[in-house]
Amino acid sequence: MLQAVIFDLDGVITDSAKYHFEAWKEIASKLQIPFDETYNEKLKGVSRLESLNLILDNGPGRDSFSESEKEALCTEKNEIYKELIKKITPSDLLPGIERLLKECKEAGLKIGLASVSKNAPFIMERLQISEYFDHVADAAKIKRSKPFPDIFSDCVESFNLLPANCIGIEDAKAGIEAIHAAGMKAVGVGSPDQMEEADLVLSGTFELNLQKLRSL
Ligand code: BG6
Ligand code: MG
Repeated sequence: MLQAVIFDLDGVITDSAKYHFEAWKEIASKLQIPFDETYNEKLKGVSRLESLNLILDNGPGRDSFSESEKEALCTEKNEIYKELIKKITPSDLLPGIERLLKECKEAGLKIGLASVSKNAPFIMERLQISEYFDHVADAAKIKRSKPFPDIFSDCVESFNLLPANCIGIEDAKAGIEAIHAAGMKAVGVGSPDQMEEADLVLSGTFELNLQKLRSL
C-alpha cells in the first residue's frame, strides 16, 4: 500500500536543473573544458564537488586541481547559481506538481523531499511549498550523494515506513538508481534514455497523478 511519496527537487518540482547547468557552463568555459547538455546529464543528482570532478574528467582530469582550488571553483559555481535561483517564484513550479502534492496530502500520504542540494530549502521557500512536506532531508547531513540510497532512506526512516510502501520521483539516472537502492519503486520524469530503469516513465510532470502512483 502506498504510504509516502518522496520527491527530488531539481528537475522534478522546478526546473532549477537548467540553472545548475548554466552555472557549471560558466565554470567549464573559464577552464576551457567542453560541456554541453548531454554531458550535463551525468551531473544530475550528484553533489557539487562530484559534479566538478565529472567536468574536470572531461578536461585535464580531477587530479589536476588541489582540494582548495576545487573548493574555490565550487564556491564560484554556487555564487552564480544563487544569483540565478533568486528569480524563482511560485509560477516556476512544474506542471502537475502542486496538484499531486494536494492529492497526496488529502489522501493522508507522507510527503518527503530528497534533494542533495544545499540550496533546496531556499528554493522551497521561493516556490512557497514548504508546508506540504512532512520531511525535508538535510543535504548537509547526507554522506553519500545519489546513486547511493542515503537521502531516500533518510526520508523513509523519518516516516518509520517500509520502503516498499514508498515511491520516489526523479529526473536523473543517478536518482532512479538511488530510489531502487533504497528499496522503493521509482517514477522517472524526463528523457526516456535516462529513465530506462524506472518502474514508470512519464514524459513530464504534467502526467503525474496519484492514481498512476497507486497503480505501481
Ligand atoms: C542536485 C542536482 O539536486 O543537487 C545536482 O541535481 C547538484 O546537479 C546537487 O549538483 C547539489 O546541489 P547544490 O545546490 O548543493 O550545489
Ligand atoms: Mg533532479
